Amino acid sequence: MTGPVPAVVSEALAADFDLADGPEGVDGILSLITTRVDAAYLEAAGPRLAIVANYGVGVDNLDLEAARARGVRVANTPDVLTTATAELTIALTLSLLRRVVEGDRLLRRGGGWTFSLDFMLGEGLGGRRFCVVGPGRIGREAARLAESFGAEPSFVGRDDDLHEALGEADVVSLHCPLTAETRHLIDAAALAAMRPSAVLVNTARGPIVDEHALVDALSSGRIGGAALDVFEREPEVHEALLRMENVVLTPHIGSATRSTREAMGLLAVAALRDVLLFARRPGNLVV
Ligand code: DGY
Repeated sequence: MTGPVPAVVSEALAADFDLADGPEGVDGILSLITTRVDAAYLEAAGPRLAIVANYGVGVDNLDLEAARARGVRVANTPDVLTTATAELTIALTLSLLRRVVEGDRLLRRGGGWTFSLDFMLGEGLGGRRFCVVGPGRIGREAARLAESFGAEPSFVGRDDDLHEALGEADVVSLHCPLTAETRHLIDAAALAAMRPSAVLVNTARGPIVDEHALVDALSSGRIGGAALDVFEREPEVHEALLRMENVVLTPHIGSATRSTREAMGLLAVAALRDVLLFARRPGNLVV
């Protein structure tokens, strides 16, 4: 294990495997998404290594080509985190549109306020155009939830015209994996294609957004706001974002419910078991 995991997960692992202190000479690795498993890491693990089970659905921390070249299997943890991540997407969207965090900050700093009819007006999701960039499992679930709040979902895949879709959306929600193709997909030009009142929500991966361009777009009023659970250089957060009222920030907690994290871990352990004990192909294989 490349980091601490919930007790039920380490117990499940320990029931079938000897746990090692480091990657050298192991048969399998349970990798946290904060561990970069690159060619050097795989080389250090040595020739016995048969599988890396990633404790997450995103696999951008792994060098998939290097794994493929060495004949190492890679598994991830899809499905079990779909609901949790989609829920956080909606929580962030509503927090931003209804100014929940901004209101909370106002009260905590002792800011004066009185109820009045034009105080802290926001927008609801009802009737808003909710554009999902990356219509995979999480994106489709976020769209379904948004629709239940009265939003009109739309989807942009790799074959669609991104800028045209961005120009028609009130909420742009990112759900694509981080790959060479999607790094900085949301750059200055993409942000310029958005409507000035539209907001950007990112619960996928930070580097999909060019954070400097985002800060520029927010400071110049080019877009209406942002809700971000992920950042370009985690755990760093661009300092300017910390000062903006129309920005809601959470520390990469999309899948952070106890039951989701346990289910993810047990799915990863099941993949390790399949490959190492039963010579079976796990369902959640990436490579
Ligand atoms: C993932 O699974 O990729 C999330 O970012 C962390 O759970």
